Amino acid sequence: MKFPHSGRKAEEVLEDLDSYARNDFDPHSKRMWGHVYYAGLKELVEVVRRAYLMYMDKTMLDFTTFPSLLKMENEVVGAAANLLGGDDGVVGCFTYGGTESIMLALKAAREKFRKEKGKDAVPEVVLPATAHPAFWKSAEYLGMRVRRAAVDDGFRADLDSVNELAGRKTALIAGSAPNYPFGVVDDINGLSDIAVDRDIWLHVDACLGGFSLPFFKKLGERVPDFDFRIEGVSSISADFHKYGFAPRGSSVVLYREAKLREGQIFVMASWPGYPLVNTAVLSTRSAGTLAATWAVINYLGMNGYLELAKRMLYAKRRLIEGLAEVGLELLGDPEGAVVAFTSPDLNLFHVSSIMAGKGWYVQSQPGSKQLGYPKSLHFSINPGHADVVEEFIEDMKHAVDAARKEYPDVSNFDISKIDYESVLENMEIINELIHSMPPEVVESTFRYFINESIFRP
Ligand SMILES: Cc1ncc(COP(=O)(O)O)c(C=O)c1O
Repeated sequence: MKFPHSGRKAEEVLEDLDSYARNDFDPHSKRMWGHVYYAGLKELVEVVRRAYLMYMDKTMLDFTTFPSLLKMENEVVGAAANLLGGDDGVVGCFTYGGTESIMLALKAAREKFRKEKGKDAVPEVVLPATAHPAFWKSAEYLGMRVRRAAVDDGFRADLDSVNELAGRKTALIAGSAPNYPFGVVDDINGLSDIAVDRDIWLHVDACLGGFSLPFFKKLGERVPDFDFRIEGVSSISADFHKYGFAPRGSSVVLYREAKLREGQIFVMASWPGYPLVNTAVLSTRSAGTLAATWAVINYLGMNGYLELAKRMLYAKRRLIEGLAEVGLELLGDPEGAVVAFTSPDLNLFHVSSIMAGKGWYVQSQPGSKQLGYPKSLHFSINPGHADVVEEFIEDMKHAVDAARKEYPDVSNFDISKIDYESVLENMEIINELIHSMPPEVVESTFRYFINESIFRP
């Protein structure tokens, strides 16, 4: 679009925006099994919207300007620390997402490492293969080197591999609670033993599980300890905008004690303006999501989260039973609210396309032939899925039957000629290619294609 010469009527502009959404999935439809964490409560949506609007125009840039924001941030962090086994010494910050929380923890660990080992030492992070790419991205931004540790057959961090890779150069090791691809929680106790023994920072990525696993555990589910109750845990990331059911742009990073957080904070007083103090990566940001998060925690309370957790556990149990009957194989033994399935004799990505045709969103995980990661379908379970899980299983039965007979023809596909439309039309083939191509080739192809032809005005 060219910069519009003159403005238009409010109604017209809003109607246009509405029409842009015509081909989008509806995040409140309960038909999305990925990318959406919807509590399924209409009144909660209303509370979130009102709280967001109340604070939308206030900025978190300067903690001295709007005292309410500092109060809310400390309260939200306090609530998260309380849930995650923290004592009075635990501190933290509100961030705009899991990636930002992880990046800040890595920065804090990097600064500590540099203080102890000297500025020139290249800090390493030891990551299980199932750790979220946000760690890799953060390491790239922060000039840290990643050592990839193996995972076992059940997709949990292989402790021997972590132990072997951790050493004098390691600034941080990480575990997931749970990991995104399979919903499996790493052995945080085992990782803690390594961290304590070698005096290394241990970060627990509870972006996905921070606000689901504690409630599952209270309901009697098998959930191993993963939080500050474990001695060696230095920091935790936990996303309110996932199973905390807050709007997008809401996470916290927590530290066992204040001195660990110091390296996260950026202060700049050597310029002619006001002293800039940033506790997060972002500087100016709307306080809307912070206020909405505060509102969600207080609206739901422990009881509300437990009710939602019950619904998720029901949907999870039925999904696992139903998809096993259809012939899909559950991967690992997931404690989390996300699960993944594979099949040796099925065109999984075609299942995903057929389901999209029926208005369901099912996420394809291409895995990697070279790295030995299976092709799979991923499901992030929401409370509302309890209402639709039987219909979903029925539709999956038909999709799986159809997908047994149809395989995509990868041979005639010219990857150099793809554009946005052909990507959307050929997701099955593209996912097959991603599975079979070396990851470095996939990465460079994506970088080129996205830069040259997707993100263009
Ligand atoms: C386990 C885990 N860690 C980190 C992240 C990154 O979070 P965000 O997308 O909020 O930056 C995700 C996102 O799905 C995740 O599942």
